[in-house]
Amino acid sequence: MDARHMKIIAAQEALKHVEHGMRLGIGTGSTAEEFVRLLAEKVAEGLEVRGVPTSERTARLCLELGVPLNSLDELPELDLTIDGADEVDNQLRLIKGGGGALLREKIVAAASARMIVIADESKVVDTLGKYPLPIEVNPFGLAATRIAVEKCASRLGLTGDIALRKRGEDAYETDGGHYILDASFGRISDAEALAASLYSIPGVVEHGLFINLASLAIIAGPQSARTIAV
Ligand code: A5P
Repeated sequence: MDARHMKIIAAQEALKHVEHGMRLGIGTGSTAEEFVRLLAEKVAEGLEVRGVPTSERTARLCLELGVPLNSLDELPELDLTIDGADEVDNQLRLIKGGGGALLREKIVAAASARMIVIADESKVVDTLGKYPLPIEVNPFGLAATRIAVEKCASRLGLTGDIALRKRGEDAYETDGGHYILDASFGRISDAEALAASLYSIPGVVEHGLFINLASLAIIAGPQSARTIAV
């Protein structure tokens, strides 16, 4: 079974949680896109939902497939957000932002009564940090912010490369016009402490540690899906 098929299995399971009339946060990434495709089929059959996309990329796909969209300002309180993740641990702490949409993803998830993560087994880890942690930063003072991130990580015993994400020759720019530092810290034994510490740096706009946001993860394996709930 290929990776895409597992994403479709997770997306199919997530779709069972979507009810008529829901205000829905719609995630970003290849797994979330499988969910959008399935959701669009249900919408075409008559399911009424209003979607709030977590990125311009997701918005484009929704519009192309006929999923009705609103802005978060129009629908500031959402019933459910369904989104992918780069890593999930067994307490439903996540690393997100591999697709660069972490800021909007976190704002939308925080505005939702529930967040369901869709992923395959390759994303499940004992301890977060194998996947580089995306940290969204203001372009102003980039070098100073990078040093501050290094120092804050080092106080927590974390070291490793902190790389500016690139698109070709240029810095990758998020939908909000910010840059991303990808921090290869390895095992993050105290995710809560790192999250709090990163927030103390003025140039850090947001980081990809999602803690206490998801209440359910649907994890697809080669044969079927299982769930992790908190
Ligand atoms: C987008 O910024 C990310 O948070 C994605 O949710 C994450 O990268 C998962 O993407 P895939 O489903 O493509 O692995």
